[in-house]
Amino acid sequence: MGIVIKNVHILGQEREKRTDVYITGDHIASIGKEPASFLKDEEIDGSHKFLMPGLINCHTHAYMTLMRNYADDLPFHEWLFGRILPMEDELTPEDAYWGTLLGMAEMIRSGTTAFVDMHMFPRMVVKACASSGMRALLTRGLVGSDRHDEGGKMRIEQALDEMEYGKSIGAPCMFGLGPHAIYTCGEDFLRYVTELAHEKGLLINMHLAETKKEFDDCLAEHGMTPVEYAASLGMTDGPAIFAHCVYLGENDFGILANPNVSVATNPASNMKLANGFAPVPRMLKEGIRVALGTDGAGSNNNLNLFTEMHLLTLAHKGNLCDSLVLSAEETVRIATKNGAAAIGREDLGSVEPGKTADLVLIDENAPSMIPNYNRMAAVAYSANGSEVSDVLIGGRIVMRDRQLMTIDEERVHYEVERVASRFRA
Ligand code: NI
Repeated sequence: MGIVIKNVHILGQEREKRTDVYITGDHIASIGKEPASFLKDEEIDGSHKFLMPGLINCHTHAYMTLMRNYADDLPFHEWLFGRILPMEDELTPEDAYWGTLLGMAEMIRSGTTAFVDMHMFPRMVVKACASSGMRALLTRGLVGSDRHDEGGKMRIEQALDEMEYGKSIGAPCMFGLGPHAIYTCGEDFLRYVTELAHEKGLLINMHLAETKKEFDDCLAEHGMTPVEYAASLGMTDGPAIFAHCVYLGENDFGILANPNVSVATNPASNMKLANGFAPVPRMLKEGIRVALGTDGAGSNNNLNLFTEMHLLTLAHKGNLCDSLVLSAEETVRIATKNGAAAIGREDLGSVEPGKTADLVLIDENAPSMIPNYNRMAAVAYSANGSEVSDVLIGGRIVMRDRQLMTIDEERVHYEVERVASRFRA
């Protein structure tokens, strides 16, 4: 498959320069000059558009679109244990499949090309990735008391099974292990999951230091902060993504400034559940890799990374009374390049020859993009995601002129409404 995007501007390059971008197979073959023996199957007119790398959502639970606007304005523990988990118990794997596809439709429409998911429904997200073509790093959520816990062992088996399943159906997925949190997993269970991750070379994806209660309880129980505790179990010795990291002790910055580790910050979820502000500007200053996530639609209540970038930069400027923190450029880097590094895919996150073609076109005729002074600021501060016109994942067009090519939205909406009708009753 050969695709050329004609006369397009590339985000971050000279303001008036326009060029042609040639895509062969799954990667960018050349920028500017037509490669030898290029066979054109598709041409996209980029003359009123600019091209940017696809956004990478480093923390979500895609199926939780089913819980969108279902549990709001509640304290964290009441939200989680009183509303979200009881609803989750009532969901079937098929429900989760449709909820996941709805999440993918929303993400693609708002320029996200890859996401890190923690889910509770084995094989369902893999199946949805295979049918939508969306890239993901999947981690089946794990809870358990210790390595002999039958339920915990079963969940680990399911996590390993879906890796094989993903390979067998050619889904565009990577896999990791997803212990849910330090307050839902016992110490020996976390140790066991960590040993397994290291043995199999898998990334660990875990919620960490999300709430004040988690921080205080961990200090009381283990005499360590949540980050120190995770490190003491070996969790920072291999690739890991820690979602949230809102509550950090002085020592924690040094522990997290580790090339294995990424922090996925989720400003909307942290604000909505009243957990506060992660110290993102300080983390960046201390050399910690920070990526961006939306968290689930049960606590956001959307999966839109444009909104999330907007909140990220504004929340910290406002919270610290410092308009210089988190510049537009830094914010966009967090949602693209840093995300790519977090999932171990340095071939993503930028528009360069040789890189994998996970790309997003932005319509410069959208009212929120006019006038055109500074595209980087437009992405971080004024875009809302509706300006995304076309999306490519691995060189495949998954949205063309706002039409999704791989997801039957009408069917998805119907199926999700069918699920929701059970909970409205
Ligand atoms: Ni989460």
